Amino acid sequence: MQTQVGIIGGGPSGLCLARLLSLAGVRSVILERHDRAHVEARIRAGVLEQGMIELMRKAQVGARMDREGLLHDGIVLTFDDRVERIDLPGHTGGQRVMVYGQTELTRDLYDAVLQDANVSVVFEAQGVRPLGFLDGEPRLDYVSDGKPQTLACDFIAGCDGYHGASRAAVPRGLITEYERVYPFGWLGLLADTPPVHEELIYSNHSRGFALCSMRSHTRSRYYVQVGQGEKVEDWSDERFWDEIRRRLPERFARNMVTGPSIEKSIAPLRSFVAEPLRFGKLFLVGDAGHIVPPTGAKGLNLAASDMHYLSTALIALYREGRGDLLERYSQTALRRIWAAVRFSWWFTSLTHKFNDDAIERKIQLAEFDYLTGSAAGRTTIAENYVGLPFDASFG
Ligand code: APR
Ligand code: PHB
Repeated sequence: MQTQVGIIGGGPSGLCLARLLSLAGVRSVILERHDRAHVEARIRAGVLEQGMIELMRKAQVGARMDREGLLHDGIVLTFDDRVERIDLPGHTGGQRVMVYGQTELTRDLYDAVLQDANVSVVFEAQGVRPLGFLDGEPRLDYVSDGKPQTLACDFIAGCDGYHGASRAAVPRGLITEYERVYPFGWLGLLADTPPVHEELIYSNHSRGFALCSMRSHTRSRYYVQVGQGEKVEDWSDERFWDEIRRRLPERFARNMVTGPSIEKSIAPLRSFVAEPLRFGKLFLVGDAGHIVPPTGAKGLNLAASDMHYLSTALIALYREGRGDLLERYSQTALRRIWAAVRFSWWFTSLTHKFNDDAIERKIQLAEFDYLTGSAAGRTTIAENYVGLPFDASFG
């Protein structure tokens, strides 16, 4: 088989990239190791920056998002019983975020891609191996229905997440990996209950962090910080509801509507960046190249800037023979990535419990005081939360 861009991974990065390329007449093949149902069943985050919203519209898959997504003008930060609201448009010249589940977004992308003549998706592609990307003959070997196959292509986009085949195929001497693993995880619970508040609540409490989020006006998503090594089976729904109420100011806790969980899982927290993001004809996109703790809701939104930069660069090459944007893909994407890694690390440090050291908590309170007590402090939270701008030189 032959195509222009071989894409490993049928998650949001691979799908949206394929769609953006297709609308410019560039063909691609996506090799996804699972089937569609498995990919769509993953529960992930759900806060979209303006950049991701516009990319979905540009990919002509934004109709349901614009119909069902919830636009939010603020977030709430609590510290024990103190409550501070951050006015997002007020501190960013009008910018806001949208709450729209990544599961829904992935479903919209599959609906479009599976009807797109410029894109082929091979589900259950096993043993995918990127080859020849350093010697100018990129190709992907894989097994489909038990038969070995080879996909020849001009370029390979590694959109296969943190545990994927693309980054693993890069010779170790060519890549530098930066990683920080946090000494705790997030226990998440999804329930068909009305959200406790119309905006997201990020809570720093002496018992640990908590987050109140949502998917709609009738479906809520909550998280509590848990110790490393904790098991989801140790957390009954009752224990979860009791714990999250303890970590919220009374004015919110008393409004908490509880119910049976429809999903409950623990996610580790890590910051990870690979440098560079290009190896000859292979490009890393999204979680394949970087991971952030979910505190800043940056995971998908960072994949968005990668998709924007890489699709723009590939289209410029195919349409105008311009290679300069492709040359600048890695450094341009990494600049925005490190800014989001910094914000996600900093927001995690401000809101989570790292130890029982009393002075640590006092310093967190002082930082909370300073930030919420000054316009400059609120602006720095707001402008990072709504998302730093994309590099204008990529159009
Ligand atoms: N071969 C083929 N497909 C693979 C392989 C492989 N070796 N390894 C992984 N995949 C597929 C996975 O099954 C998954 O569907 O690649 C896809 C990667 O998707 P994601 O992990 O969702 O990564 P990405 O598309 O970059 O989306 C980033 O996901 O985890 C969130 O916070 C993150 O929101 C961010 C978003
Ligand atoms: C979510 O809705 O799952 C969510 C929202 C904001 C975050 C992380 C997760 O920072």
